[in-house]
Amino acid sequence: MLEIKALNQFYGDSHTLWDIDLEVPEGTCTCVMGRNGVGKTTLVKSVMGLLGIRSGSVRVNGIDISRHRAENRARLGLGYVPQGRDIFPGLTVQENLQIGLHARKDKVRDIPERVFELFPVLKEMLYRRGGDLSGGQQQQLAIGRALALDPKVLILDEPTEGIQPNIVNEIGDIIIRLNREENLTVLIVEQKLAFARRVASHFCLIEKGRVKSSGDMGVLSDDLIQKHLAV
Ligand SMILES: Nc1ncnc2c1ncn2[C@@H]1O[C@H](COP(=O)(O)OP(=O)(O)OP(=O)(O)O)[C@@H](O)[C@H]1O
Ligand SMILES: [Mg+2]
Repeated sequence: MLEIKALNQFYGDSHTLWDIDLEVPEGTCTCVMGRNGVGKTTLVKSVMGLLGIRSGSVRVNGIDISRHRAENRARLGLGYVPQGRDIFPGLTVQENLQIGLHARKDKVRDIPERVFELFPVLKEMLYRRGGDLSGGQQQQLAIGRALALDPKVLILDEPTEGIQPNIVNEIGDIIIRLNREENLTVLIVEQKLAFARRVASHFCLIEKGRVKSSGDMGVLSDDLIQKHLAV
């Protein structure tokens, strides 16, 4: 489904990602893990086309998209929920949801009802300003906005960061439902081990811009966690 091969990324002279290989097969949920600053966000932004890469490839269903513009990647089915959510604080919930719809190639311009089914709170708060929502509600809005484009792969960057525990659980439930019941392929960046183990079937552990280990979640040993995740 999504395949990253030998990807290298630089910020100026600074070599940030080194020969990253990562495969996200259809229907799986893969969790990118690693401590602060190891390059997780740089990796997902590279996949989305928000950062240029030096070498390597990103393929979606076999099509090399590594030279495609970000809008085209969204049209090809990559949905993105950025770290920090990036909603528009001055726009209403409705406007935040509508804003990405022009990227749909099927010309659907109404917010799909499914978004409100998954996140009823967004319907209740349709005319409230994004900036007036709680952190958890903003995260739901950011996920809803990505889902409004009906993606084939949903990429989420630390969706539980700074969010109260009950909403973290709710977001976990939604990701599990989308992945296991609706067969949406998911790539998630997550540092919380319990959450990652709950939602993801596969993991990819990064340290200093390199993949240190990857595979089935069941293979993520205490030893690996101690070495690459524990602070
Ligand atoms: N725009 C930028 N220009 C230069 N260096 C950057 C830029 N953005 C990030 N970096 C550096 O690249 C490295 C990887 O950053 P990145 O944000 O990808 O890490 P991360 O794993 O997502 O961290 P976190 O867990 O804190 O979100 C860090 O050393 C960071 O300082
Ligand atoms: Mg990050």
